[in-house]
Amino acid sequence: MSLPSSRTSPASTPSFRVRLARRGDGEQLGHLLAELGHTGAGDTATVHWVLSHPEIEVHVAADASDRPLGLLSLSHRPQLRLSGRVATIDELVVLPAARRQGVGRALLQRALERARVLSVKRVDLQLPSVPDESTFRFCEAMGFRDAERGVVTRVP
Ligand SMILES: CC(C)(COP(=O)(O)OP(=O)(O)OC[C@H]1O[C@@H](n2cnc3c(N)ncnc32)[C@H](O)[C@@H]1OP(=O)(O)O)[C@@H](O)C(=O)NCCC(=O)NCCS
Repeated sequence: MSLPSSRTSPASTPSFRVRLARRGDGEQLGHLLAELGHTGAGDTATVHWVLSHPEIEVHVAADASDRPLGLLSLSHRPQLRLSGRVATIDELVVLPAARRQGVGRALLQRALERARVLSVKRVDLQLPSVPDESTFRFCEAMGFRDAERGVVTRVP
């Protein structure tokens, strides 16, 4: 499926278009995950697994050479207490050289469009383990607020 959302930008800003990730993007997905702090993530088997999963969508913003500059993965599932579908943006990252050019916004807009189509009742955004100022500024600009919902974690 080719997705038409795109931005043709002035002068120094590269144009990009948002599309679904493909298996051939695997190497660049690995680079983007490393930018998010997950060095070594994005092995071929996992990329194929995730890309073929019926309740996960991975969207990328690709430059004029079709190389992903940014990545957003969206997973969704029905939840008992919500009586509806909840979605989580598990990963959202833009290459440092491509930041502040609307890439993150375009990816998020695509995810929100998809959430509406899927009748999602709530969208959570997973923060990086070490968020910085841009993370918080972006979240604020995009209308996200602290959920104040405690989550603890461990290995099974
Ligand atoms: C957060 C991140 C995805 C934003 O991507 P981006 O492509 O640079 O974001 P955009 O250019 O679409 O910015 C959208 C708006 O967010 C705000 N914003 C983003 N980065 C900002 C910064 N460093 N300082 C202040 N505001 C910022 C602005 O309001 C901006 O709109 P504007 O440029 O018209 O002022 C990117 O900085 C990133 O990959 N950070 C590291 C990973 C991360 O934090 N991921 C989780 C995101 S919740």
